[in-house]
Amino acid sequence: MTDSYDVVGVALGPFNLGLAALLDDTDCDALFLEQKPEFEWHGGMLIEDATLEVPFLADLVTLADPTSEYSYLNYLRETDRLYEFYFYETFQVPRREYDDYCKWVADALESTAFSRRVTDVRYDDADEVFHVTARDPKSGETVECEADDVVVGVGSVPHVPEELQGHPESDVFHTASYLDRRERCLDAEAITVVGSGQSAAEVFLDLLKRQPEAGYRLDWFTRSDGFFPMEYSKLGLQHFTPEYTEYFYDLPQERKDSILPEQDLLYKGIDPETSEEIYDLLYERSIGDSDPDVGMLAMTEVENIEEAGDGYLLTCEQRQTGERFAHGSDVVVLGTGYHRPQSPFLAGIEDRIARDAKGRLRVAENYEIEFDGAGRLFVQNPGLHSHGVGSPDLGLCCQRNAVIIESLLGEERYPTDEDTVFQDFSVERFCEKSPDSERLRDGKELGDDERSNDGDRSADERASDERTATTRED
Ligand SMILES: Cc1cc2nc3c(=O)[nH]c(=O)nc-3n(C[C@H](O)[C@H](O)[C@H](O)COP(=O)(O)OP(=O)(O)OC[C@H]3O[C@@H](n4cnc5c(N)ncnc54)[C@H](O)[C@@H]3O)c2cc1C
Ligand SMILES: NC(=O)c1ccc[n+]([C@@H]2O[C@H](COP(=O)([O-])OP(=O)(O)OC[C@H]3O[C@@H](n4cnc5c(N)ncnc54)[C@H](OP(=O)(O)O)[C@@H]3O)[C@@H](O)[C@H]2O)c1
Repeated sequence: MTDSYDVVGVALGPFNLGLAALLDDTDCDALFLEQKPEFEWHGGMLIEDATLEVPFLADLVTLADPTSEYSYLNYLRETDRLYEFYFYETFQVPRREYDDYCKWVADALESTAFSRRVTDVRYDDADEVFHVTARDPKSGETVECEADDVVVGVGSVPHVPEELQGHPESDVFHTASYLDRRERCLDAEAITVVGSGQSAAEVFLDLLKRQPEAGYRLDWFTRSDGFFPMEYSKLGLQHFTPEYTEYFYDLPQERKDSILPEQDLLYKGIDPETSEEIYDLLYERSIGDSDPDVGMLAMTEVENIEEAGDGYLLTCEQRQTGERFAHGSDVVVLGTGYHRPQSPFLAGIEDRIARDAKGRLRVAENYEIEFDGAGRLFVQNPGLHSHGVGSPDLGLCCQRNAVIIESLLGEERYPTDEDTVFQDFSVERFCEKSPDSERLRDGKELGDDERSNDGDRSADERASDERTATTRED
């Protein structure tokens, strides 16, 4: 007989693992299926010294339930590191330790199953259940189960631009497999790193540290306008809060699409500490007449890579001047980011899933995908288009899971924090709190009746009125 669950989670990245941990304390019967043989968080990037970009308080459970047994602090207690951590006095913990913490949680939960790649999800209208099929990638063994609801948490996958594909992976590879290929780098005469997100910066720094012993030439190109830092000021970080997520969600889609490219440096770019470390190392290496044997060029797109003798020739264009040049290298490390292709296991229910004109999932505020059927399909990390820059951020993991759990159980189980910021994002909120401000419609103040009925109007209508009011005030 096929096993039946209230909810099946597809994949165990931190987001679905957090959901599994929070559901453990409820009556919900859940199963989470992960394709890897054990939990692993971006394994190829677990570089020594690399840290989380969020404080450890953004663990899998604390921001929803600080008393949970699956908290980071309890992990430290159970692994006898609480005092060591106390004197460590650092909020941004090593990435290798966060990975170990997640493994510890995954091992403690009964609802997790590894070596289970989900290959198919179907919906049965008669029984009102999802049929989920998973396969062990190694043995080929297939398992099936049924679920009332499904939560997809497959994250994103490494992106290599088409023009840069097709070369031996030992020499031209994505940062996601850096640690598996680092030995090869140490044998190279010339290495080129591409991109200026945090991944490329961490790889560049690691290679820079190893350069004196290995003796290679090291170059770094990025298409971005500069080797710019990611936003890390406290007020700027308030964009990664429930309030900003709610504000962004309520905007009309075309407004969201125009805002996102302007928000690159909120989540792309280099952690200021990594940037500083790179600069200081270069400074140290260049004392006196020394040459660090390093090249760095921004505004430069790598358009093509071709094999040339024992190495590779990169064709590059400086995008502001239009100048083009060829560059030789034995090894190329591509920090060209991540993307979210459509999930093949959803093909069997694709005709029931609503997508927008750009093929993106239509996601409700509670992270439910618009689905034609009685069952509910949720998504953890759908991309930025619906809920904004906070979508892939670990700091919003607990909040999102509290919302999903409320929908799954039909009642609030974990409080969803509100009023967590000092600033406001929506005019409505600001005016509610400000004694000297009144919202305007057609240049006039809203009457009491209009104000109290305003909550019933659609977000698009409200946003449109706010735009009108702002234009008039201007
Ligand atoms: C190197 C790196 C470091 C980062 N550091 C931070 C940070 O410090 N702070 C921060 O806020 N964000 C960080 N991020 C952003 C990232 O979005 C989050 O860290 C996080 O990994 C997202 O979690 P997730 O659960 O969506 O998916 P992922 O972590 O991407 O995990 C997805 C999982 O799905 C599994 N899977 C895929 N398909 C299937 C299938 N068909 N069946 C079963 N399993 C499947 C995969 O094997 C994988 O384990 C980082 C990203 C990278 C690349
Ligand atoms: N320590 C950590 O916690 C940590 C570590 C790694 C990653 N992360 C997170 O993971 C996410 C992904 O980061 P990421 O660094 O992997 O990717 P990313 O931030 O998306 O950066 C990709 C970079 O590659 C550039 N690029 C793409 N194609 C190019 C080409 N053909 N030629 C030259 N440059 C090219 C991009 O330029 P454009 O700007 O023009 O697109 C951009 O600079 C981010 O949210 C990041 O914060 C966190």
